[in-house]
Amino acid sequence: MINLIWAMTSNRLIGKNNKIPWHVKEDLLYYKEKTKGQVVLMGENTYYSLKGYYKDKPLPYGKIYVASLSDNVFADAVKIDDVVSFLKENKEDLFVVGGASIYKLALDYADRLYISIIKGDYEGDTYFPSFSLDKFNLISEKETEKVKYLVYERKDI
Ligand SMILES: NC(=O)c1ccc[n+]([C@@H]2O[C@H](COP(=O)([O-])OP(=O)(O)OC[C@H]3O[C@@H](n4cnc5c(N)ncnc54)[C@H](OP(=O)(O)O)[C@@H]3O)[C@@H](O)[C@H]2O)c1
Repeated sequence: MINLIWAMTSNRLIGKNNKIPWHVKEDLLYYKEKTKGQVVLMGENTYYSLKGYYKDKPLPYGKIYVASLSDNVFADAVKIDDVVSFLKENKEDLFVVGGASIYKLALDYADRLYISIIKGDYEGDTYFPSFSLDKFNLISEKETEKVKYLVYERKDI
């Protein structure tokens, strides 16, 4: 099962200077609750972004795959140099946690989408790719003052 999880504004903004553009605690808690101890796939930029947030603390995942085309080595992660082949062969319950370039490659393989729509206007430089929900059913919807939480599941699984 391939899950994508992300938070974006209504115009699909997701990042600023390799960080999250907002600080919305309830969404952070939602993300942590969904991904804690899970197998995750992330791009190299997101990996360094998370390392910046966690500083010397270990990242809170069961297993980390980092997509990278560089020669860098990741002590706490398995390096993936071909995301599409990796996703096609995946048998794990995997959470794809960003960023933009990895979401773009993973959308066609996603079974489930956890989307947090962050309310308000923010500035940034990184956007979730445009995508269609035609092949997905909305299975859960919850709204608070700050966030709309949507969960979609692929129709043919
Ligand atoms: N709001 C959210 O939910 C959320 C979640 C996660 C991240 N973000 C934000 O998103 C931004 C980062 O996104 P990003 O797109 O810049 O970076 P990214 O997706 O985290 O990482 C991109 C990395 O993937 C590598 N890559 C590209 N294609 C690949 C392939 N086919 N196989 C293996 N590796 C491949 C790239 O290598 P090359 O550089 O060599 O091309 C690059 O090192 C940050 O601002 C972060 O805060 C937001």
